[in-house]
Amino acid sequence: MKFIELSRFSESEILDVHNEAFSDYEVPMEIPIDSFKYLNLRRGVRYDLSLGAVDGENLVGFILNAVDNWEGKLTAYDCGTGVIPNYRQKGLGNQIFTHLLPLLKAENIEQYLLEVIQTNIAAYNLYKKRDFQITRAFDCLLADVKEVKSKFQDKEESNLTKGYNIRDITNLNWNKVKKYWDYSPSWQNSDLSIQRVPNSFHYLGAFLKDKLVGYMVYEPSGGITQIAVELNHRNQNIGTEFIKNLIEKVPEIEKLNIINIDKRDTALLNLFSKIGFKSFTTQYEMILKM
Ligand SMILES: CC(C)(COP(=O)(O)OP(=O)(O)OC[C@H]1O[C@@H](n2cnc3c(N)ncnc32)[C@H](O)[C@@H]1OP(=O)(O)O)[C@@H](O)C(=O)NCCC(=O)NCCS
Repeated sequence: MKFIELSRFSESEILDVHNEAFSDYEVPMEIPIDSFKYLNLRRGVRYDLSLGAVDGENLVGFILNAVDNWEGKLTAYDCGTGVIPNYRQKGLGNQIFTHLLPLLKAENIEQYLLEVIQTNIAAYNLYKKRDFQITRAFDCLLADVKEVKSKFQDKEESNLTKGYNIRDITNLNWNKVKKYWDYSPSWQNSDLSIQRVPNSFHYLGAFLKDKLVGYMVYEPSGGITQIAVELNHRNQNIGTEFIKNLIEKVPEIEKLNIINIDKRDTALLNLFSKIGFKSFTTQYEMILKM
């Protein structure tokens, strides 16, 4: 078995192994090449700091990493670890980590971050074995747009408080809106990820007169990436109105999703549950201090 930088493979070769490794995964993961390229761009993948396990000529496993500054520390983010079914439980996942860590340390990377579905025992055990520690627990929600619409029709009281208005915005002052956060978003929902592919998102602002008091960033395909309202302006139905606005703007979408809501964020979880979102999986965020 050889361990080779993923920069030596094409994205479609890596995707084939990715799709095979995730073929029996809890959440459907078979993705087309364009989505794979987009996700890797958004997450900031560094193929030169990612490794494949190669048997003869065949790529049979991989760890795909991104690198950036994360909460003040140069951080590697594991965008995906996969070993194809016939090669599992032979120590390969573990060996890829063993070969990767010196490469990451040589780049002065201070910590290694990842997310894992809580019920994915194989992956969770692998990360525990490598000394990753749980930092946060996340909920991931999905909604049927029809159901969300019917909830809105039932509830007259879910109207935006008078004086506030919602409109499209073209750019965000990140330093300003970060003050609305109760906690930092996960890696792929972070401002860094958004700013790598800024045109893939729509931005909504909530205003009181002309003062911005909240915002939502979403993908036109129905993924809600960030949503926050300034503390003094909460409970005015701004969050609900953002979702109404999204549905009006992209009427063709059938499903909405939001991944990686901090489990402690009961306000956001309640808001989404009230309008018809349901949990489809839960994840741990884990960090290895290097
Ligand atoms: C997770 C995955 C990459 C592990 O790869 P692997 O090469 O089979 O793992 P290893 O053989 O190196 O095992 C290392 C450790 O992981 C854990 N582990 C691996 N498979 C396991 C299983 N089926 N059940 C429980 N623990 C398991 C064990 O702690 C193991 O150490 P041990 O052998 O000393 O007990 C592989 O199962 C996989 O590709 N799964 C599908 C994709 C996926 O879920 N990726 C993670 C999310 S991004």
